Amino acid sequence: MSKILVRSGGKLCGKVKISGSKNSALPILAATVLSEGESKILQVPNLSDIWVMCSLLESIGAEIGSDKGEIIISWEHIKSDVAPYELVSKMRGSFLLAGPLLARCGHTRISLPGGCPIGTRPVDLHLKGFAAMGADIAQGHGYIDISAEKLHGAKIYLDFPSVGATENIMMAACLADGETIIENVAAEPEIIDLAGFLNKMGAKITGAGSDTIKIEGVKSLKGIKHKVIPDRIEAGSFMAGIAITGGHALIENVIPSHIKPITAKLREMGVEIKEEKNFIEMDAGGQLNAADIKTLPFPGFPTDMQAPFTALMSVVEGTSVIVETVFENRFLHVAELSRMGAKIKIDGRTEVVEGGFPLTGAQVKATDLRGGAALVLAGLVAKGDTEIGDIEHIDRGYEDIVGKLQGLGADIQRI
Ligand code: UD1
Repeated sequence: MSKILVRSGGKLCGKVKISGSKNSALPILAATVLSEGESKILQVPNLSDIWVMCSLLESIGAEIGSDKGEIIISWEHIKSDVAPYELVSKMRGSFLLAGPLLARCGHTRISLPGGCPIGTRPVDLHLKGFAAMGADIAQGHGYIDISAEKLHGAKIYLDFPSVGATENIMMAACLADGETIIENVAAEPEIIDLAGFLNKMGAKITGAGSDTIKIEGVKSLKGIKHKVIPDRIEAGSFMAGIAITGGHALIENVIPSHIKPITAKLREMGVEIKEEKNFIEMDAGGQLNAADIKTLPFPGFPTDMQAPFTALMSVVEGTSVIVETVFENRFLHVAELSRMGAKIKIDGRTEVVEGGFPLTGAQVKATDLRGGAALVLAGLVAKGDTEIGDIEHIDRGYEDIVGKLQGLGADIQRI
């Protein structure tokens, strides 16, 4: 079993290039199910989650080729509409196949994704959307059967602006009869990227990025070429890493408007950040202050940045209060950070971080994807060796995190 070994190695300096967005690439790959012909997806990160989605697509009939960040997907015909437990259980994002398969085949049998360490993560909002569009839903033996000979347009209000539900319903609605209006939708940049991809394929979607999306159903969609957006969460994680070490670096291949809540928080803490069209320059060499955070759907502070910022707040002098409003159980990394000397108290969905106590290296375990990243960041400044286990969680979402941190001068290796 591989581990990551990190030693406190001074400030992160130099430059780092951000990869394509995992959370954009996953729904875009799923959306190719809706199309006929070949699609070429560029800037796809080399991550285990991406290969799980590709295996799923192959299992239902796609032919897939890949070369250095490009994935070519050809659809001759869909040979199965079943998404099996073995693959869906590896990654919750697999549930994004439900909408496209339902719309294209009139039926799908998809394994229920189940819980995950950060919360129960139900799919009720996805299913309510499909039902409003005329689908019958039956559940049994750990699977959901969703059927509709032909989906019809509907007016759908999401109780919570769920990213996955917005994407799934939007994809299904592309081939439905008539107009679908989804209100209280997620406005994340990944939603805009997916809508842009679908529109290039021939869909008629307006409003992505606002709280209401309208989709006029079309008869068919065609394969196209598309480059996914840069990964704002990877960028934010490197920003937290540069800040935690008091470093000075360029972060290339970012869209500054996508990372606004992160940039704003770091500036509030005393980090200097210059934004250019597709890169930012960060200088965290000055005194940094504690700050409070509340995670929210976009354009609020991303829940995916909560764990990396908890590591950062543990190091900065003063008390920070972090409130997690999106997921019910996203503090698993706290116990591991505490083993490294962080002073954090949890009360419900709130963490109180007493920063400024020196961290010490320890043997720790990545509890989930972003929690794993938090441990890597803590290791960059902890005295002695930090050995991180269960790093398959980290590999799900960070392309070559070790190589990229080494490029910024970190003393880190995979062992
Ligand atoms: C996506 C991201 C994930 C990010 C999250 C929130 C992908 C592949 N993953 O996950 O990295 O942390 O958005 O920004 O893009 N909920 C329900 N019922 C539903 C759906 C969601 O109650 O049917 C709840 C969830 O349990 C959670 C909240 O809504 O508490 C947000 O979840 P959602 O926005 O759906 O996250 P994902 O799409 O799963």
